[in-house]
Amino acid sequence: MDTVQRVVVVPQEPVGQIQPYLHGQFAEHLGELVYPGVYVGPESSIPNTDGLRNDVIEALRPLSVPVLRWPGGCFADDYHWRDGIGPREQRPLRINTHWGMEEEPNQLGTHEFIAFCRAIGAEPYFAGNLGSGTIQELRDWVEYCNFAGNSTLANERRTNGAAEPFQVRFWGIGNENWGCGGNMSPEEYAAAFARYRSFVFNYPGTEVEAIACGPNGHDWSWTRRFFEYMKKRDGNCRLRHIQGFAAHYYCGTAGTATEYTESQWLELLSKAYAIEGIVTGHRSIMDEYDPQRKRKLILDEWGAWHPVEQGKPRSGLYQQNTIRDACVAALSLDVFHNHADKLYMANIAQLINVLQSLLLIEEDRCIKTPTYHVFDLYRPHKGAQAVRFLTAAETVSNGEASEEACRSCYLDKQPFALRAVHGSASVRDGVLCVTVVNTHPTQPVELDLEVYQGKLGEMEAVTLASDEIHAHNTFEQPDVVQLAAAKTLQAQGSQLRVSLAPGSVTRLMGRLG
Ligand code: AHR
Repeated sequence: MDTVQRVVVVPQEPVGQIQPYLHGQFAEHLGELVYPGVYVGPESSIPNTDGLRNDVIEALRPLSVPVLRWPGGCFADDYHWRDGIGPREQRPLRINTHWGMEEEPNQLGTHEFIAFCRAIGAEPYFAGNLGSGTIQELRDWVEYCNFAGNSTLANERRTNGAAEPFQVRFWGIGNENWGCGGNMSPEEYAAAFARYRSFVFNYPGTEVEAIACGPNGHDWSWTRRFFEYMKKRDGNCRLRHIQGFAAHYYCGTAGTATEYTESQWLELLSKAYAIEGIVTGHRSIMDEYDPQRKRKLILDEWGAWHPVEQGKPRSGLYQQNTIRDACVAALSLDVFHNHADKLYMANIAQLINVLQSLLLIEEDRCIKTPTYHVFDLYRPHKGAQAVRFLTAAETVSNGEASEEACRSCYLDKQPFALRAVHGSASVRDGVLCVTVVNTHPTQPVELDLEVYQGKLGEMEAVTLASDEIHAHNTFEQPDVVQLAAAKTLQAQGSQLRVSLAPGSVTRLMGRLG
């Protein structure tokens, strides 16, 4: 591979506004995420506020998490919201049927989750139960949360301590209903969606964004058949009930979370990059039914899924998180920014101690993962205007290494080739923010960044890098992988030369001339 690589940013070509929701998160009642990741109870010796862990809140607050999806996942379609309201000592003990038949004590329910969202500044996104719940149950949960007036349900919410409505806008109508949420065909789900959705009302002050269950990865036929059914029934009428359509895509693993070869590094990043095909493929099918893009494409769940760490229960989905996962996160966020015109929300799975998490907790300790640092580094993109980012960097993996990468090509049937450098660019108030990933585990890159017909001056560079491709943070050594101190670089006209360490993520920011 050549050491010198080139990328071009075109500020004259806006792509779309980067919805902050593209940096969303997901929290399911699964493994250690909710108990004790979020909730330890007011009596716990772990410092908490009304049962919610202080260390976790402190760690998440600076990220301005835009949205938090809850309570699942598969858990959502076996969750009955009434179990989680009222005096905590009277709440029923249930079984978490999807995740190891563990006890579900219902100590964190609707009120506690809303309190957590408020503490970290996130907007709640509730996944409703279509699989095993009734239409009435979902209908009532929405009224309980959102009705400001005088009704038995709104008054019950008041009795339980919330005088004002929660104003929950995002409601998922089921989760993975092609699988754990009921094993339905697209037509069966579409029919169920139409019925459940009809009774999810907009109470004054809160307009609901109803989110339909989308496909698993590259299952193009789920998307087509769902929209075909919704359209065919009575013209376009039922399409109006859909505000969002949510796909899931996990890039999986190659090796394990902490043990992998250089070629497995590239394999995982190729599979991660294939998420671009998921976004463009499903959006292009949706465009046939919804050319004005009134229905938002969402990625409800995404990220790496490694084998569970030894010594941890299989059902808890606990995995370590290395610099390779940081590159997975950065590459994916860059894809989302580059498709800001097509994608509205994306929620990485999951927040704490489950899959590709931002935080790891153990007893009274809480550490930030390399993935956390990527979300931190990429913050300036949120809400900014994405502009065209073109990479002329050479191919480091042609995608054929991964079947998933091949199957994810809906439009051009070409595998998504992983380049030595990927990235994205945005502009806000005349300040350019460019993020780049050197995807190669061992080769450094001298990057020539050109701003087309533009001028750059001083640029601030912040990097997430490591000398070791398996580097990760532990409770004993929590800062092995962390953001380096900012450096100032000087551009020449429209060009900036910047050194990118192997397997690293860099943010460059400066005023456009
Ligand atoms: O994130 C873990 C699980 O992955 C979720 O519960 C489910 O929706 C998906 O299959």
